[in-house]
Amino acid sequence: MVVFEKNEQIKSFVSERKKSGHSIGLVPTMGYLHEGHLALVREAKKTCQTVVVSIFVNPTQFGPHEDFERYPRDIERDLRMLEEERADAVFMPSVAEIYPQGYVTYVRLKSLTDCLCGRSRPGHFDGVATVVTKLFNIVRPEKAFFGQKDGQQVLVIRKMVEDLNMEPEIVTVPTVREPDGVAMSSRNVYLSKEERKAAPVLYRGLMAAEVAFKNGERNPQRLCKIVTDMIAGEPLARVDYVEIRTIPNLEPVEMINGPALLAVAVYFKNVRLIDNVVLRPGNPS
Ligand code: PAJ
Repeated sequence: MVVFEKNEQIKSFVSERKKSGHSIGLVPTMGYLHEGHLALVREAKKTCQTVVVSIFVNPTQFGPHEDFERYPRDIERDLRMLEEERADAVFMPSVAEIYPQGYVTYVRLKSLTDCLCGRSRPGHFDGVATVVTKLFNIVRPEKAFFGQKDGQQVLVIRKMVEDLNMEPEIVTVPTVREPDGVAMSSRNVYLSKEERKAAPVLYRGLMAAEVAFKNGERNPQRLCKIVTDMIAGEPLARVDYVEIRTIPNLEPVEMINGPALLAVAVYFKNVRLIDNVVLRPGNPS
């Protein structure tokens, strides 16, 4: 496994690999890796001969009062884990490498980005869309891998790729969970012991709503209420949002008659956890 910090290095590595006929898979991450990230790497390994993992804590997707500075980092451990997964290359640029002095260009979607996480985190998806565009341009992968854990993020990336005629095929990988149902996240380390014990309430709420949906409930308000009631029973948890929106356009929905995203965000003190399930009428998963 080779590790690069400079755009030009990873670019020439990739073009050499392409010359020998390799297909390139990219797994963008912010590091502090866990089994969720590794599931993306494993999926990439299945179909791409060269797998590049990027590790970059992207400042432009963090709000001014968010956790950019204290976002957990452990490069040594990340590299060990990626070596074990047989990743071929790691791209870990500095902030100056991605956003040199005088940087001014951003990618912004006119819809999909103001609701759900975008409402709680204004500008977040501009940062995501911008850095992912840059990574695509630097690495030029045939495929790029994203987790369903960040359900809105995948839809934003897919829409951007479609609108801007970008090359990579976007592959979505199912959410990897802890045994108690908590979606794996680098931010889980911020939780106190008590909060971590309370965290499965997100998944329990989603599962309860999914059961009601499978039993025929199609009213989004009633489905969301199942989740909010469940979370209200957990004193350490405070709901940021519980919403159902259409897939792929994330529009509000009055009665579910096509694929829909049931998404939740919950605060435990100032730690914000997100999770989601996809509801598919007529095609129960
Ligand atoms: P990060 O939070 O590090 O996540 C990197 C990728 O791993 C994302 O595609 C995310 O959806 C996926 N992932 C995280 N937890 C997962 C889980 N429990 N199961 C399955 N996949 C999971 O998402 C980002 O970084 C950034 O926004 C990024 C796309 C790298 C742009 O900066």
